[in-house]
Amino acid sequence: MTGTTTDRAVGTPLPRLDGHAKVTGTAPYAYEQRPDDAHPLHAHPVLATVARGRVRAVRTDDAAAAEGVVAVLTHRNAGPLPDLDGARDGELAVLQSDAVAFRGQCVAVVVAGTPETARHAASLVRVEYDEEPHDTELRADSPSLYAPEQVNPTFATDTDEGDVDAALAAAAVTVDRTYRTPMEHNAPMEPHTAVAVWEPRTDGADAEGTDAEGAKGTEGVRLTLYASTQGAHTVRTTLAPLFGLRPEQVRVVAPHVGGGFGSKGMPHAHDVLAVLCARAVPGRAVKLALTRQQTFPLAGHRTPTIQRLRLGADADGRLTAIAHEVVEHTSTVKEFAEQTAVGTRLMYAAPHRRTRHRLAALDVPVPSWMRAPGEAPGLFALEAAMDELAAAVGLDPVELRLRNDPPVDPESGKPWSGRHLAECLREGARRFGRPGGGAAPGSRVEDGEWVGTGVAASTYPYYAFPGSEALVRYDGGGRWTVRIGAADLGTGSRTALTQIAADALRQPVDAVTVELGDTELPSATVAGGSSGTASWGSAVVAAADAFRAEHGHDPAPGARASAGTPEDPDAERYARHSFGAQFAEVRVDVDTGEVRVPRMLGVFSVGRVVNPRTARSQFVGGMTMGLSMALHEEGVLDHRTGHTVNHDLAGYHVAAHADVCDVEAVWLDEVDPHVNAMGARGIGEIGIVGAAAAVVNAVHDATGIRVRELPVTPDKLL
Ligand code: MOS
Repeated sequence: MTGTTTDRAVGTPLPRLDGHAKVTGTAPYAYEQRPDDAHPLHAHPVLATVARGRVRAVRTDDAAAAEGVVAVLTHRNAGPLPDLDGARDGELAVLQSDAVAFRGQCVAVVVAGTPETARHAASLVRVEYDEEPHDTELRADSPSLYAPEQVNPTFATDTDEGDVDAALAAAAVTVDRTYRTPMEHNAPMEPHTAVAVWEPRTDGADAEGTDAEGAKGTEGVRLTLYASTQGAHTVRTTLAPLFGLRPEQVRVVAPHVGGGFGSKGMPHAHDVLAVLCARAVPGRAVKLALTRQQTFPLAGHRTPTIQRLRLGADADGRLTAIAHEVVEHTSTVKEFAEQTAVGTRLMYAAPHRRTRHRLAALDVPVPSWMRAPGEAPGLFALEAAMDELAAAVGLDPVELRLRNDPPVDPESGKPWSGRHLAECLREGARRFGRPGGGAAPGSRVEDGEWVGTGVAASTYPYYAFPGSEALVRYDGGGRWTVRIGAADLGTGSRTALTQIAADALRQPVDAVTVELGDTELPSATVAGGSSGTASWGSAVVAAADAFRAEHGHDPAPGARASAGTPEDPDAERYARHSFGAQFAEVRVDVDTGEVRVPRMLGVFSVGRVVNPRTARSQFVGGMTMGLSMALHEEGVLDHRTGHTVNHDLAGYHVAAHADVCDVEAVWLDEVDPHVNAMGARGIGEIGIVGAAAAVVNAVHDATGIRVRELPVTPDKLL
């Protein structure tokens, strides 16, 4: 594909265009939106306190009698969800039956005049359960293990190439280890919130009809949902049929989002709950903000994993066999199969390869996307195993990876659009120093601390989704507006799209205003899979090209043109992935086992970087999340009750400033000619991939102790 962008704005470190509005508190997030209702109502959910069973009785009298309470909804009176497209999403079937499938599932909701009265009244709802035996514990031999049909989003569940067992039996050196990662929670700074307004039909028909008759009674209804989402159009496409509405009847608004990390990639139960409440009080605005604790069971999480890695190599460290077998969990109401071993399929050359994914359907909350779902836990295990192999062969860990760098995609045989892992490793080693350092693990002690360094490789696929559209309008007076229903999660996509649009229009950036985050704008795909810049930017460039073709260089004010994501002829021709090399130094207190990470370096190959300032922030954020994964994050389920006991930011520690020292991210100077008009492959997720392995490998170098179960807490080092 030939590039059409010039290089004037793209590539410059433009500060976030919405930065001032954000730091001055004038950028409206979902809960702060002011719908046209002077006294919006507030909803507070009641969550199940058993892990499995049935609601035998709900006593709502006290709650309903509390001052200021407008409605109390349970499965008995919430009304049906017509579910027109028959998707039967068990996570979104909120208040539709008496069944409880996990602790923390919503069993009632109170609507009241203030958040405080709603929360108080919710505490007065008495729920009685018929409890059933539950199982929330993931085990390698869980009785409910099964092979899903595919893994997220559409990868094969298993792959087999050659004869892994024979190759392992014949290998000069083997590694056979099992690694575990815990349940992890996305924990974006802005919790999950929604404001819903259900405007009834205006022809005088009884609003009651909407409940009982489903789709038939919804003609003329308008639903507005201010959501905290990674995709306004995705929310509309999912929720409209659920409520018997056509997409045109629904408007979803999300101009600013305070982080998502995947947990806002698709609507969750709280979005449905807000709309159910709004439907019960037509014409009124209903605001719902999950408490931080409520986000733990309701907003998705990363599945725990048990990963067996077997590597076989010759005496020179050339891999002959790779087997990566994963056990993970899903819920009983909705399947989510994380693609944990998918990164392993392309990472290294070996003639004999096997990957497996098995799921245990447990009585747990619904798992979902969390930053680099699949690659993040999967490459932790693979890259920790590679470190063990390097030690077994007696080879420098960078050299081991260089020796196994495949010239073409091992899985498809296709050429890489730009695989520069070797350059990343070499550049990183040059800047950081050779990890491992040559001294024996556990032999360097300075000031009462073991000191060590580690390295790991990183990869993330290139995704660009078809189906986004952009509109370009000349407003006159040298001003341009670009409209696309994209999302900015704090990543800077509004700013990057402005740079792309400015170059495509041959205009300065301050001549261009990008409007996003609203289904009133042209349709856009979800901010997921690090695909935003690629998917939306391509549409913006196409719309700018169309504008210049239609209106020339001297357009009339009001002139406009739109275009969609163009064809992607290289999609089938090339294996398109980003790569990176992660380095970490650790210091481990000899007495307490406390691990500090004084420095991390990531060197990335991601195609062209549209905005070095916001890109750096994405990489550093991803690496910090990887550091957090290595040392801190662990959702702890009490298997007696199914309860996530550390369900807040006090108990579920996310790396804070005091945990993070020098994190440096750099990237290769690169344009990928086989992806899109920008030559950019995506940057949102690769930063976390491999980072945890680099830290854990450094811990081994420092202490001689291999920790194969995240997070690396002090007890594992003493
Ligand atoms: Mo990202 S976890 O694909 O939103």
